Amino acid sequence: MQDTWEALQQAAERELAAAGDVQALEAWRIEYLGRRGRLAQAMRGLGQLPPEARPAAGAAGNAVKAALTGVYDARKQALAAAEQAPVEETAAFDVTLPGIRPRVGQAHVINQVMAKVMAAFGQLGFRATDGPEVEWDRNNFTLLNLPEEHPARDMWDTFYVGNVGKPGEVLLRTHTSPMQIRVMEQTEPPVRVIVPGKVYRYEATDATHGWMLYQVEGFAVDCRVTMADLKGTLTQAIQLIFGRERRTRFRCDYFPFVEPGVDMAMECHVCDGSGCGVCSSTGWIEILGAGMIHPQVLRNVGYDPEEYSGFAFGMGLDRIAMLLYGIDDLRLFYDNDLRFLRQFR
Ligand code: DAH
Repeated sequence: MQDTWEALQQAAERELAAAGDVQALEAWRIEYLGRRGRLAQAMRGLGQLPPEARPAAGAAGNAVKAALTGVYDARKQALAAAEQAPVEETAAFDVTLPGIRPRVGQAHVINQVMAKVMAAFGQLGFRATDGPEVEWDRNNFTLLNLPEEHPARDMWDTFYVGNVGKPGEVLLRTHTSPMQIRVMEQTEPPVRVIVPGKVYRYEATDATHGWMLYQVEGFAVDCRVTMADLKGTLTQAIQLIFGRERRTRFRCDYFPFVEPGVDMAMECHVCDGSGCGVCSSTGWIEILGAGMIHPQVLRNVGYDPEEYSGFAFGMGLDRIAMLLYGIDDLRLFYDNDLRFLRQFR
């Protein structure tokens, strides 16, 4: 048995010395030290020896195993070191070469505009929150005074995504207005909240329409909130965003969740109101819809319209961004062409 161990060790050491790279080394390890390797096989063969011979033979086998493991480790380290060496040599570099300028990232232009809008309303006492893009019909329509079969539901071409209870019960929100319901159901007045976020519409895409766009919803409810608060707050906010001198204009408009409803326009920031291509020669640019929250909406969330009143507004962030930067095609925002996006530092 002693001879067998010695022969095994010698053969192993000879072959190990010849293993010139990591693959050969691994093959050697499997051949000799592996679970089915030659050493393990020889150990299993010990069972055939007479009982009194087994301990000594086993001890000799273990010694061989320890020796081979030791030389294996040493060989492995030597090979690893040899493979490192050339890298260290080539790592020497010419410090006089021009450097590689690291690419610095930046917020997407829509996020930058969102931050600007949020900062403006933040100054006016609004807190920001967000909500789910997948919404219940109830929040997106019904409780906003758009009961089923209400014709004004046609104002929004809707992506319906599921029907938990009945047809079309779950949808992609068509506007951020359902957050009025969610926030008011959870909060007692006074509330002053803005909600930026994505909304979705089943719409053919062109320069001014997308199937996804960003909106900012805002609303304030308290005792004795009036139309004057609406006009003052929104005028202030638009001036913070577009510049102090902008005049604003409010005209009647219809939205089922407000009464009265208005659309707000600002004096064209390109021609200062004298008329140009951007404002279609009117001098005015429409930027948002707003109004006094409909008493039925207040009742729907458990507010008493005799005690509380409020105003609400919703604007398209993409549109604000287009106006701020004179961009004429909304699709540019989402094509993610870095040559376009990098301009907005
Ligand atoms: N949700 C409306 C839309 O997407 C915009 C809007 C209009 C929001 C009037 C309001 C509002 O809160 O009072 O077209």
